[in-house]
Amino acid sequence: MNIRLAKAEDVVGMQQANLVNLPENYHIRLWIYHIITWPQLSYVAEDPKGRIIGYVLAKIDEESEDKTADIHGHINSISVMRSYRRLGLAKKLMLLSQDAMASIYKAKYVSLHVRETNKAALGLYRDTLGFKVADTEKEYYADGENAYMMRFNFENES
Ligand SMILES: CC(C)(COP(=O)(O)OP(=O)(O)OC[C@H]1O[C@@H](n2cnc3c(N)ncnc32)[C@H](O)[C@@H]1OP(=O)(O)O)[C@@H](O)C(=O)NCCC(=O)NCCS
Repeated sequence: MNIRLAKAEDVVGMQQANLVNLPENYHIRLWIYHIITWPQLSYVAEDPKGRIIGYVLAKIDEESEDKTADIHGHINSISVMRSYRRLGLAKKLMLLSQDAMASIYKAKYVSLHVRETNKAALGLYRDTLGFKVADTEKEYYADGENAYMMRFNFENES
């Protein structure tokens, strides 16, 4: 398996993987917008035939109205096709995106939302990558499930 930066040509394959793996789906324009706006933050994993079998879609958060707030990255979506799981792909995708957030954008931390019941993702974020739960957002998801808002601080970055 090969992991590389996502390109605009990858958005259909990324969107397809997202549709298979997650109930939270996005318009193709959002995928393209992310890759064009923050071209160093989103990555894909491909099989030997070049088919996309995993991705991470990320951004620098611009939503805060508080201009003094720390610049930070945000993971919008990550998934790996079922038959390629537990091989360390998601961990690698996350670390590549996080490294770019800290080194290129000087982000102070990275945040994300995860379903309270998503054991695999919680294992990845909390146990493997060291994220901490910063908040619980009630009924964040369309089906009413709560989200944990999780954060990881880039302590050693300037
Ligand atoms: C969550 C997901 C992206 C993990 O992808 P992955 O490539 O299998 O993850 P990795 O192989 O990099 O796993 C790294 C670590 O995460 C944890 N982890 C991964 N899957 C796990 C599972 N099913 N149960 C518990 N812990 C798990 C483990 O700590 C694992 O380390 P280990 O294999 O050494 O024990 C994948 O399960 C997936 O695509 N799920 C559906 C989509 C999704 O839920 N995305 C996250 C939305 S917030």
